[in-house]
Amino acid sequence: TGKFTYDPGFMSTAACNSAITYIDGEKGELLHRGYPIEQLAVHGDFLDVCHLLLKGDLPNLEQKREFSELVTKHTMVHEQMQFFFRGFRRDSHPMAVLTGCVGALSAFYHDSLNINDARHREVSAIRLIAKLPTLVAMAYKYNTGMPFVYPLNELSYSANFMRMMFANPCEEYKINDVLVRALDRILILHADHEQNASTSTVRLAGSSGANPFACVAAGIACLWGPAHGGANEAALNMLEEIGSPERIPEFIRQVKDKQSSVKLMGFGHRVYKNYDPRAKLMRETCHDVLEELGLHDEPLFKLAMELEKIALEDEYFVSRKLYPNVDFYSGIVQRALGIPTSMFTCIFAMARTIGWIAQWNEMISEPDQKIGRPRQLFVGQTPREAKPIEQR
Ligand code: CMC
Repeated sequence: TGKFTYDPGFMSTAACNSAITYIDGEKGELLHRGYPIEQLAVHGDFLDVCHLLLKGDLPNLEQKREFSELVTKHTMVHEQMQFFFRGFRRDSHPMAVLTGCVGALSAFYHDSLNINDARHREVSAIRLIAKLPTLVAMAYKYNTGMPFVYPLNELSYSANFMRMMFANPCEEYKINDVLVRALDRILILHADHEQNASTSTVRLAGSSGANPFACVAAGIACLWGPAHGGANEAALNMLEEIGSPERIPEFIRQVKDKQSSVKLMGFGHRVYKNYDPRAKLMRETCHDVLEELGLHDEPLFKLAMELEKIALEDEYFVSRKLYPNVDFYSGIVQRALGIPTSMFTCIFAMARTIGWIAQWNEMISEPDQKIGRPRQLFVGQTPREAKPIEQR
């Protein structure tokens, strides 16, 4: 019609102003509120990054203490939530369970649903950051038939999560600092990534005034897709399917075949066309974890390195500027931590919750916030007559 700009996939549409995350895809740069991801990954922990994204700056010691206390105060979920879990088939995909349970939080926390009140928004944000690890661990325990483990607030955010995942009542659980640090890095690297599909989903859902728990549930649903958060699970499945380095050339041939829909999972990014800075940090962590666990000969890691090397030299990938993304290595790290493949996207959701809620809060705080309502180019029937059924 000429009235609207047609931009499938939003390749050239900026849907909002945001001061949270900056990405320069050509340079491979990722900054949160001005701080390079490489520095945050080394000098901060996940709660520092949560504070940064939500409140605008890194906390000092006092602010950090207050923020951690606030988060730990909310780590428990309502005891009735367990009945919600028990309504799912035991073999349900944990992402299905998580989508439902996070959506259900809106039924439990009516006291923080006034989105026009900044204090309510903050309480909801804290509740979400605090409860996601508890819910993710419960989804895992339910799936494996193990008893739920309550949060232990004296532990750090990531150590508490590891304990809720892996402790059981029969033996003492020992915290391994290298593994906790690795999980924390996964969380930091996935915390926010400006207007990706799930964040845009959260913003669009929130633009109608929907409550934050419902909006985050919408984000989780979007994240599940294999082109987005499901990529880490798909990348690991792919490595297992390839199986051994000799089979890489045949696999690459299939990827290059235009008739096939096979993709090299964990490769390519809409914005990064040089390299993904998160992938470099994740690869480092992958190395540390395998070293710590004495798994440096782990065949999957070797296969991933070999596949990366071959792809990076191949004309097909070079000409399309396809590089490993964060999910290429995060699956191997999670596998080494003992996290099953079906839980990978839940871990991503747990990390991204802060990004979603910080972006949602930023949007709701805008004075002239409008409902998101894209238009279309209509390509269907011109007007015609609807006849009674016997005349059709
Ligand atoms: N393997 C093989 N070919 C690829 C791949 C890949 N992983 N990614 C893109 N291409 C090809 C694509 O077929 C197209 O080729 P041609 O020009 O001949 O038609 C060209 O590269 C451009 O790709 P595109 O599909 O236009 O790129 P996009 O920006 O729309 O897609 C992407 C980005 C991430 C969805 C895509 O690269 C992909 O599906 N990658 C695999 C899944 C994945 O790893 N996703 C995780 C992204 S990072 C974490 C997150 O944000 O969730």
